[in-house]
Amino acid sequence: MLSKQMTQALNDQIASEMYSANLYLQMGLDMAQDHGLQGFSHWFMCQWAEELGHALKIMHYMMSRGADAKISALEAPEKTWKDARTAMEVAYKHEQMITRQVGDIMKMAKTENDYGTECLMRWYVGEQIEEEDTVRRIHAQVMMVRDQKSGLLFIDKELHTRPEPAHFHDYH
Ligand code: FEO
Repeated sequence: MLSKQMTQALNDQIASEMYSANLYLQMGLDMAQDHGLQGFSHWFMCQWAEELGHALKIMHYMMSRGADAKISALEAPEKTWKDARTAMEVAYKHEQMITRQVGDIMKMAKTENDYGTECLMRWYVGEQIEEEDTVRRIHAQVMMVRDQKSGLLFIDKELHTRPEPAHFHDYH
C-alpha cells in the first residue's frame, strides 16, 4: 500500500512525464514545420514515445500496489525555443528538472521505508543519467557547429538514425 503522500507524488510524476511528452512533440513539430530539420523532428518524436512509456511505467506500478493512478490536465508547452540549439537547451534544462523530481521521490521512498517505490525509482535514476547525457551531447554538437548549416544538416542526418519505438511507423 502506498502512502497518500507517495500516491500524490507519483501522480504528479505521471503528469510531468506526460508534459515532457507534449514538450518534445511540440519541438518535433516545430523542427519539421519551421526549420526543415527532419532528423531533429524524428528524434524529438521518438522522445515523445519514450516519455509516454515513462508515464505508463509509473501507472502500471501504482496499479500493482493498489494505488489510484490519475491523469491530470496538462498545460500546453510554452514555446521558449526558436531553433534547434535553443530547443536542445530547453530540453537539457527540462531533463535536469525531471532528475530533481525523481530524486525527491527517491528521498520520500527512503524516508517512508517504501522499498517498492525505491526499487522503481532506481530505474528512473538510471534512465535520467542516460537522458541528460544524450541531450547534453546533442546540445554540445549543435553548439560546436553554431550557424554552419552543413554542420547542422550533418547532425540532423545522424539524429534521423535513432531507432523508432515499436509500432511507431504505423502512425506515419
Ligand atoms: Fe521521462 Fe526525459 O524523462
